[in-house]
Amino acid sequence: MTKQQSTIEEKAYRDTWGKGIDSYLQMMYERLLLMRELLTEDGSIYVHIGPRIGCRIKVLLEDIFGMGSPSTEICWKRVTGHGDSQRWGVIHDLIIWHTKSDNFAWNPQYEPYSSEYLASKYRYQTINGRRYRLDNLTSPNPRPNMTYEWRGHKPPQFGWRYKYETMEKLYTEGRIELPKKEGGRPQFRRFLDEMPGVPVGTIWADISPVNSQAIEDTRYDTQKPETLLERIIKASSNEGNLVADFFCGSGTTLAVAEKLGRRWIGCDLGRFAIHTTRKRLLDIEGCKPFEILNLGKYERQYWQGVTFGEQGTHVTEQTLYEYLAFMLKLYGAQPVPGLTHLHGKKGKAMVHIGAVDAPVTIDEIDTAIAECVQCRQTELHVLGWEWEIGLYDLMIPEAKKRGVKLLLLQIPREVMERQAVDKGDIQFFELAYLEVNILTPRKLAATVTLKDFVIPNTELIPEEVRTKVKKWSDYIDYWAVDWDFQDDTFMQGWVTYRTRKDRTLALTSDPHTYEEPGRYRVFVKVVDIFGNDTSQVFDVEVQ
Ligand SMILES: C[S@@+](CC[C@H](N)C(=O)[O-])C[C@H]1O[C@@H](n2cnc3c(N)ncnc32)[C@H](O)[C@@H]1O
Repeated sequence: MTKQQSTIEEKAYRDTWGKGIDSYLQMMYERLLLMRELLTEDGSIYVHIGPRIGCRIKVLLEDIFGMGSPSTEICWKRVTGHGDSQRWGVIHDLIIWHTKSDNFAWNPQYEPYSSEYLASKYRYQTINGRRYRLDNLTSPNPRPNMTYEWRGHKPPQFGWRYKYETMEKLYTEGRIELPKKEGGRPQFRRFLDEMPGVPVGTIWADISPVNSQAIEDTRYDTQKPETLLERIIKASSNEGNLVADFFCGSGTTLAVAEKLGRRWIGCDLGRFAIHTTRKRLLDIEGCKPFEILNLGKYERQYWQGVTFGEQGTHVTEQTLYEYLAFMLKLYGAQPVPGLTHLHGKKGKAMVHIGAVDAPVTIDEIDTAIAECVQCRQTELHVLGWEWEIGLYDLMIPEAKKRGVKLLLLQIPREVMERQAVDKGDIQFFELAYLEVNILTPRKLAATVTLKDFVIPNTELIPEEVRTKVKKWSDYIDYWAVDWDFQDDTFMQGWVTYRTRKDRTLALTSDPHTYEEPGRYRVFVKVVDIFGNDTSQVFDVEVQ
């Protein structure tokens, strides 16, 4: 049974197939080249891919990695049956493995013996219930020094396999079975519990896809089973090694790497993927600290350069002009020439567009409001990629005081996706509003309570989601506090989030105890059920 993708999921999984297979292969080629450069000499790369596109990716990999070092393709049987009897049912994925040199890290992996094999070979049991098979004790080559009589048994033609002392030792350990019949030969016992199993080959039929009831299921549509990644990571890396997954999705590779004591790096272009991964890692007991970095302005600068720049990336005034024209068109606004801070007009509202490489600042909005006042305009829409901290709380009342209705709108990442733009899929949401209460319940302590969270344009939220929301906190999936924000990186001090098992969410943090009294900046970060961040900083006086 396959589940229809919801609107949220469809956006979360959108990948770069925009211009068809050629553009996809080009995208992969560029990334695989970089991955080869990053790969250590004894490292391996595994590319997991559907069979239709897999053969093309295999050719790319051969081009990039050459044919000199070991490589192969693994066939993972990912479903047992296929409903279609009109053609061959495709029930596998390809996992293409390439090494960078002959000196690759390798730990053989084993799978259990089949029941038929066990039934035919391991037919015996000791009185303690240990299962074993019998093997001969003859030397394969002539060994005159091992040609001796042992416990009344004549030596075999080429001699015994072991020295006399070893034979005695093995016998006392119960590893040699004496013949039950006259004229029989002593035999060696191979115990099943000491055999590693069958070395795993290139057909993997023993790993099932993630079951919707499984604890590991994160509801990420393309999530892979942890056992699959376990086999790969164990085979090709050792503890302390670095594992990277550049298309990490729900973070299966990273979660398994963490559990197996490897270091890891993950990357994905979907914010829903990153959010799912974050929660999944936080759920691992004893998970080491990790950092979430945002490509943010670097990606946007690059996009601006290649989309509007001359000769690819050179940003000129013309580039900026074209960027503004593009954004205004997307927002459905008309350009207005002759003004400094106001770029366009939509209906009655003036429009200001934030730059790609800097947060919209309080000063910037202040001057845009002043220009509105100067030309007797009463409504201002500001579109931004990022926002100066504290701007929302300060500027909405400030604009109101000066007779201007101010709307702050988030420019979504999808603006940079050609496919989404062409499909007319871009929506600008108003910034969410967060109300928080900070209490200092006792000496040197503080707690944070969420009082309200408002997603303004609820009409843009898919019906299927909206009908399930009963109260404001239902929109929140995760929230965290940095108790002593230093105006650079958010350091998670206290966190809570919904899990599949536990859908409840605490709205008051545990108390945090400071070492000294003083004035602290408390950073509260909320991630909503769509994966959007809303952050606010509060100053608190701790006695
Ligand atoms: C098949 S999913 C990975 C699933 C993952 N193995 C798991 O177990 O959850 C592929 C992921 O690649 C991401 N993706 C697609 N194109 C990308 C790109 N150019 N750069 C980074 N991530 C990309 C998608 O957002 C998606 O999450």
